[in-house]
Amino acid sequence: MTKTAKITFEKISLPKSGTLIFLVASDGKLPGMANDLDQAYDKFISKAMKVAQFSGKSSSSLELVSPASLSYGRILLIGLGSNDDPSLVDWRKLGGSIAGILLSNKIDKSTLIVETIKGNASDNEVAANIAHGATLRQYKFDKYQTKSNDKDGSPGFEITSLSIQCEEAAKVKKLYQDQFVSLQTGVFTARDLVNEPANVLGPDEYAKRIKGLAKEGLDIEILDEKALKKLKMNALLGVGQGSRQGSYLAVMKWNGAPKSKAAPLAIVGKGVCFDTGGISIKGAGGMEDMKGDMGGSATVVGLMQTLAKRKAKVNVIGVVGLVENMPDGLAQRPGDIVTSMSGQTIEIINTDAEGRLVLADALWYTQDKYNPSHMINLATLTGAIMVALGKEHAGLFCNNDELADQLVHSGKQTGEPVWRMPMGSAYDKLINSQFADMKNTGGRWGGAITAAQFLERHVNKTPWAHLDIAGVAMASTKSAINQSWGSGYGVDLLNNWIAENHEK
Ligand code: BES
Ligand code: MN
Ligand code: ZN
Repeated sequence: MTKTAKITFEKISLPKSGTLIFLVASDGKLPGMANDLDQAYDKFISKAMKVAQFSGKSSSSLELVSPASLSYGRILLIGLGSNDDPSLVDWRKLGGSIAGILLSNKIDKSTLIVETIKGNASDNEVAANIAHGATLRQYKFDKYQTKSNDKDGSPGFEITSLSIQCEEAAKVKKLYQDQFVSLQTGVFTARDLVNEPANVLGPDEYAKRIKGLAKEGLDIEILDEKALKKLKMNALLGVGQGSRQGSYLAVMKWNGAPKSKAAPLAIVGKGVCFDTGGISIKGAGGMEDMKGDMGGSATVVGLMQTLAKRKAKVNVIGVVGLVENMPDGLAQRPGDIVTSMSGQTIEIINTDAEGRLVLADALWYTQDKYNPSHMINLATLTGAIMVALGKEHAGLFCNNDELADQLVHSGKQTGEPVWRMPMGSAYDKLINSQFADMKNTGGRWGGAITAAQFLERHVNKTPWAHLDIAGVAMASTKSAINQSWGSGYGVDLLNNWIAENHEK
């Protein structure tokens, strides 16, 4: 599937072949390296920039065929724009844009020179982040496209190699290996899972794939329907009862903390492999997108893989509830009342508000069994969060200000932003039911918030955060570093949150 360019880090020296890439500041200034080219050539570049009116605008490019006297075939100038102090996320995006230009210009082998350009980030960080962005950009999900064509996202041209030249190549190589390679694997796993259609990735197959992650050093436990019945997870089971496939709770354990008994962090995900709405069936338009309703679980799986690959020094429990929400003679009805594992009763008003039912039992089980120090869940939970925040931020709901601040901070650092939403008793009372302890929908207003209140009723005092990722995990806005429908959102965010707050 995704074959990304082999990235190497080397000392600065002019290449013998391929394409030479220079980053150009917005004032048209070339990096010092260009001075090493002979005078005539320097003039050639300046002239080309003038003629083509290339001014170094952000992510603009100018491709030149080099004169016969030079060994490399082409020179590619890439604009850095006018931002005087790009963040690491900006450098990543630049890496993504560079890969995009290489792909559309069909440049298979190239050498990029990174040396003191601008801003406060070190050359080493700049080089590693460019490499990371370039790799994320190249992901594509084309396993079901049997005919080769050149349209974006279809099988076709691939970049073979990208050599990044910088002063401290060996250090950058280590930085890149340590920080980014295991992260990329996890992000690609999450994207793959979200992109996979539901006839392939139903709960049965998904549980099997998760089992396969034992090879990464994760301890995997799959609870099937029989086990879930015994645990009284009737909220989760009710959602899956109209499906021909089983329902599961998959638990992935990573034990990397120096004190092996240290309380774990817990990350919980919604894994609705397909959400038809059930008896409260959805309209036909766009229903195909509901193959991505397991996006929260995909993030958890990708994250656990990343933590295992980089041997994170922390204990983390990943838990995902895997079900399929189908209409059927045996499916759950509106008006049904179920008792969740917590012992609380729930009146089902709308069978399409199923994610919170799955999470209610998954959250309760996780805190009950593992007593985590912090619990974070991710879910493509509501359309309402997209009404509120569009597709740029995930919604953050949290019972703990410190945890909320940490997540907002990690969101900024990784370019996976979250926006904190309000919670409180005035919202909570909207889900009181006349027949049961609560109902599974709260009416027309504040739909993302009442969904969060429902989850909170299944969490005790544990510091807890809920990320509603309906707008950012699937059908995602294409960006410099992601051209895929399934974005893998949250793997970087939570990996960063763990590294910054629980491994130092
Ligand atoms: N999976 C959906 C939410 C969703 C919608 C995710 C669009 C991604 C894109 C969720 O299960 C759902 O159906 N929510 C309902 C809740 C309503 C019935 C209270 C919604 O948001 O409309
Ligand atoms: Mn639904
Ligand atoms: Zn759903």
